[in-house]
Amino acid sequence: MAELFGDLNPPPRLLMGPGPVGVDPRVLRAMSMPMLGQFDPAFTAYMNETMELLRQLYRTKNRWSFLVDGTARAGIEAILVSLITPGDKVLVPNFGRFGFLLAEIAQRCRADVVTLDREWGTVFTPDEIEAAIKKHKPRVLALVHGDTSTTMAQPLKDIGDICRRNDVLLYVDATATLGGMDVAVDDWKLDAVSAGLQKCLSGPPGSSPVTFNERVVDVVKARKHIEAGIRPDNFVEGNAPIIQSNYFDLGMLMDYWGESRLNHHTEATSMLYAAREAVRLVLAEGLDNCFARHRLASEAITAGLTAMGLELFGDQTNKMANVTGVVIPTQVDGEAVRGMMLHDFGIEIGTSFGPLRGKIWRIGTMGFVCRKENVLICLSALETCLRQRGFGIKAGAGPDAALAVYRRAEKIPAKKAAV
Ligand SMILES: Cc1ncc(COP(=O)(O)O)c(C=O)c1O
Repeated sequence: MAELFGDLNPPPRLLMGPGPVGVDPRVLRAMSMPMLGQFDPAFTAYMNETMELLRQLYRTKNRWSFLVDGTARAGIEAILVSLITPGDKVLVPNFGRFGFLLAEIAQRCRADVVTLDREWGTVFTPDEIEAAIKKHKPRVLALVHGDTSTTMAQPLKDIGDICRRNDVLLYVDATATLGGMDVAVDDWKLDAVSAGLQKCLSGPPGSSPVTFNERVVDVVKARKHIEAGIRPDNFVEGNAPIIQSNYFDLGMLMDYWGESRLNHHTEATSMLYAAREAVRLVLAEGLDNCFARHRLASEAITAGLTAMGLELFGDQTNKMANVTGVVIPTQVDGEAVRGMMLHDFGIEIGTSFGPLRGKIWRIGTMGFVCRKENVLICLSALETCLRQRGFGIKAGAGPDAALAVYRRAEKIPAKKAAV
C-alpha cells in the first residue's frame, strides 16, 4: 500500500520576506465558504461585486477590472499576450529581476523587445524613459512599479502622459505594491495594470487582479475570437491576428466576466472568495490608511536597522514602502542568519537574486503582517542572530529606534507609554 503521509500541519511562521505573507484569517475564512455553480446568480453577483471592489482598489472607472486565475504572472501574461501582436516593438525599462520577467514574457509573445537597463538599486527618471521612447518608438511600454528584487519603486506619475504624447500603450506590473502603495490608474493614465493577492492584499497566491481601459479594449476587440463550441451564429472574427493564448485571451475573459457570461474557464471559486474578501478588507481600512500603515512600518524598520549599524540597500528616496533591502555585513554569513531567524524564531526574511545574491536581505512589511508588533519582533530577533554571528550591536538599539517612530506617530511620549 502506498505510504500515507501525516496530516498537513505547517509550522507557524511570521512571513517577513518579499511575499507571500501571512494571510488575513478573514480571507482564510472566506475561502472555506461553500462552492457555488459558476453561473449561479449568487456567484455571478460575487463576480460583479469583485469587479466593483477592484475598481475602487485601482482608483479607476475602468469597466474591465477582474481576476485572472493564476499567480501574478498569469495577469502579466494575459495582458501582454493580448496586447502584443507578433513583431510589435515593446520597450521594458528594466531595474530588477521582474523587468527581466516582463521582457521574457514579451519575447515569448514574439515582440521585438528593447530593454533600457539600470543598475539594481536605482530607478529611471521620466526624461530617460521619454528619450528611450522617442529613440525606439515602441507600441507598448512594460514597466514594473515595485520590483521586490531590488526593493525599489519606479515613480509612475509622469509616465502615462509621456506614453499618451508618444502614442504608446502603458502596461504596469503592480504585483508587489497594490494595496501598500498608491496605484492611481486613472490619474496616472496607466492603460493596463496587473497584480497578485499574496503581498499587500494579505491573500494567498493564485489570483491576479487586472484592470485595463478602452485603449486596450480596442486592441483586444480587433483580435476578437470565440471558441467554436460556444460561438454565436452571427459572430464576426476580428481582423487583427488572433491572441496566441486561449486561457489568457482578454477578449474571451471579458465575455465571461461581462453580461454575455460566455463560458470560458471555470472561475476558481475559493480564490474569488479570497480576492473579494482581501480587497474588501483593504477598502474597509481605507486606501490612504493602508498606505500610511505601510509607510510608517517602513520608517520604523528603517530607523531600527540603521540604529543597529546596518546599511540599507539602494536609493532610499525611491524605496518601496513595503520591502526593505539590508546590506549583509561582510563579517556575517547571510544564509546562516536567515536560517537562525527561521529555525530559532520562526521568522522568514528574504534572500536575493542575480547581482544581489548573498549581498542583501529583503525584509517585507506587507499587508496583514505590516504591524508594529511584527516590526519589533523581527528587529529583536535579528539583533540576537547578528550578535551570535559576531556582529556587535548595542542591545535593544533596533527595537528602541523603531518603537520611537511608532510612539511619535501615536503621539505618546516614550516614558508614558502603556506597559
Ligand atoms: C513585481 C513582481 N512581479 C511579478 C511577480 C511574480 O508573481 P507570481 O509569483 O505570483 O507569479 C512578483 C513576485 O514576487 C513580483 O514581485
